Amino acid sequence: MSDAIGWGIVGYGWVARDYMAPGISEAGHRLVAVSDPGETSRQAAEAVGARAHTDLAGLLGEPEVEAVYVATPNHLHREAVEALAAAGKAVLCEKPMAASLGDAEAMVAAIRAGGIFYGTAFDQRHHPAHRAMRDAIRRGRVGDVTTIRIVYACWLDRAWTSFAGQDNWRIDPLKAGGGALIDLAPHGIDLVDFLLDESIVDIAAMTQARAQDYAVDDGALLIGRTEAGVLANLHVAYNCPDALPRRRLEIVGTKGSLTAVDTMGQVAGGTLTYTDGASGRIEPIGFDGDASPFLEQVRAFGSALRRPAEREAYSAERDLHTMRLLARAYAGCRDARGTDR
Ligand SMILES: NC(=O)c1ccc[n+]([C@@H]2O[C@H](COP(=O)([O-])OP(=O)(O)OC[C@H]3O[C@@H](n4cnc5c(N)ncnc54)[C@H](O)[C@@H]3O)[C@@H](O)[C@H]2O)c1
Repeated sequence: MSDAIGWGIVGYGWVARDYMAPGISEAGHRLVAVSDPGETSRQAAEAVGARAHTDLAGLLGEPEVEAVYVATPNHLHREAVEALAAAGKAVLCEKPMAASLGDAEAMVAAIRAGGIFYGTAFDQRHHPAHRAMRDAIRRGRVGDVTTIRIVYACWLDRAWTSFAGQDNWRIDPLKAGGGALIDLAPHGIDLVDFLLDESIVDIAAMTQARAQDYAVDDGALLIGRTEAGVLANLHVAYNCPDALPRRRLEIVGTKGSLTAVDTMGQVAGGTLTYTDGASGRIEPIGFDGDASPFLEQVRAFGSALRRPAEREAYSAERDLHTMRLLARAYAGCRDARGTDR
């Protein structure tokens, strides 16, 4: 069987059109079909040679579709994943897994019942710089990791949409499940797990509604601690002008530190350096600066679809734990759109 996977996509909006479809094509896989009720989105899919259906039933009728990427607004992940699991399709579903913990729990039950191969689309695991950081940690370069510091922020105002006239569902608490915290913090929480091979177990957060005029948080600070005692500090925001420094990942250890700048996000590139803890000397660490995390994510998922042993890198239970952490983080917030939970 060829390594080229036939993909379907549910929800052909911004991330599917700009990042996943190019990743599928660069990996040598094939985008067979999409389902999307939006005419503009269907036209965009047809423009790259995919068949476009208005609903999921049409997509499920496509025998060449082996794996399906779900990239609808968050509150619609559940219904798509449940239907795909019942149909026995492999699923790569965008983060956050769902808009609510209850939906995520139902999804994991459906995944188990269907016995399907499932992954949440944590593309940041696949950024070549982040893979190099994980390798460096494993080789002992930073010594014992004490702290991970992450900044992942952007500007997202009321008028923000990926297509003109499209719904800005991210500022609707029922559709998004929250604001900057639920949208951006899953990447950092999952990266901690990826880099250290252990999950955050304790978490707390403070949200704000400082600069934007909508009903969800526009910024949050989170603090977490892993079972072994590593501290994680995440700053996520929708209120940071895009031209400011806003994408940074630092690993601090007893012998040195690793700093990645402009690697968090959907695109290739950024920089990675090692700082020696004894001398303060800074040296660059090389990585493939041309491979986007989406390309690498498609390659990894496709490879695991063909080689079941590689599926160990994916875990719906771990992703459900991330959802539990997000719910706990919001539950502890008494202010600024983190309330009423
Ligand atoms: N990993 C990342 O870096 C990343 C980046 C952006 C978005 N995302 C995630 O991807 C998902 C989509 O985000 P986006 O920015 O592309 O949103 P978007 O609003 O640009 O696109 C959503 C698409 O879903 C379609 N849609 C709505 N209802 C549907 C249904 N019932 N069935 C099929 N399609 C339906 C819309 O018509 C639209 O085309 C979200 O879960 C988001 O959190 C992840």
